[in-house]
Amino acid sequence: MTSKRIASGLGLLLGAGLAASQAVALEGDAERGEAAAGTCVACHQADGMGMNNPNGESWPRLAGLPAAYIAKQLHDIKEGRRESPSMMPFANMLDDQQIADVAAYYAELEPWPELPTAYHAADPNDEAEWLAERGDWAEGRMIPACSQCHGPNGQGVGDSFPPLAGQHAGYIVSQLEAWREGKRHNDPNDLMMGVAERLDEAQIELIADYYATLPERIAAQGDAAQEEDGQ
Ligand code: HEC
Ligand code: HEC
Repeated sequence: MTSKRIASGLGLLLGAGLAASQAVALEGDAERGEAAAGTCVACHQADGMGMNNPNGESWPRLAGLPAAYIAKQLHDIKEGRRESPSMMPFANMLDDQQIADVAAYYAELEPWPELPTAYHAADPNDEAEWLAERGDWAEGRMIPACSQCHGPNGQGVGDSFPPLAGQHAGYIVSQLEAWREGKRHNDPNDLMMGVAERLDEAQIELIADYYATLPERIAAQGDAAQEEDGQ
């Protein structure tokens, strides 16, 4: 499995990340994970959906994230590749087996909504959609489309590229800033640091709001289309 993944295109970039935290390979048990997650609910909530806190630190949604991604983040936080004074004490409470267990538990909660993947041409007048689907290749920017790694509609790809659609806007902003400030330096080949560095403040706000609200906007479009069909 591992050799297959490493052989596949982007997998090459990820080999480094996976090798850095070998403990990710431990088999997790969701039931034990639920017991170990007792302290997490204060912030990530009982349903694992986290919370957007416009005037403070937002708590990411964990429910439905890939188990391997969750485990990697907990190791990264413990080992300082991702600096978070709020999260560190809780990550430190977990040993390798407990990390695998809570990862299995959260991965099994309500999955990320399935969004249409059918290609639709990005609207050049919609700055956020254009950035998400086409990037920003203006001189001095050279920002690849988020969808190149996070998948169409930011649904996530495999274990390594987390979903963005439906994640809290405040949290997305905080992570892009963390990369810019060097507080998060845990991504294979600094892929995200390179992206975050080249976004300007306005683009960060725009793209965070775009992904946070994408699932509801797509659902609303679906409803509108059905109403039209019904006429
Ligand atoms: C005091 C609030 C708080 C508690 C309690 C807490 N967390 Fe967190 N958690 C956060 C914050 C804030 C972040 C974002 C950290 C950052 O900015 O890098 C986070 C991030 C995470 C992430 C990374 C998510 C991602 O999308 O990359 C994981 C995984 C996680 N927490 C798991 C846990 C687990 C498991 C527990 C319980 C053992 C827990 N947290 C307890 C506040 C908390
Ligand atoms: C070249 C690949 C690549 C591109 C392009 C890319 N990302 Fe990422 N992104 C990643 C990887 C890899 C991670 C996970 C890093 C890790 O292991 O912690 C990530 C993580 C993130 C996270 C953290 C999610 C979480 O749950 O903590 C955010 C937010 C994010 N990316 C936003 C964006 C945005 C916005 C864009 C477009 C402007 C973008 N990314 C483009 C590779 C990419």
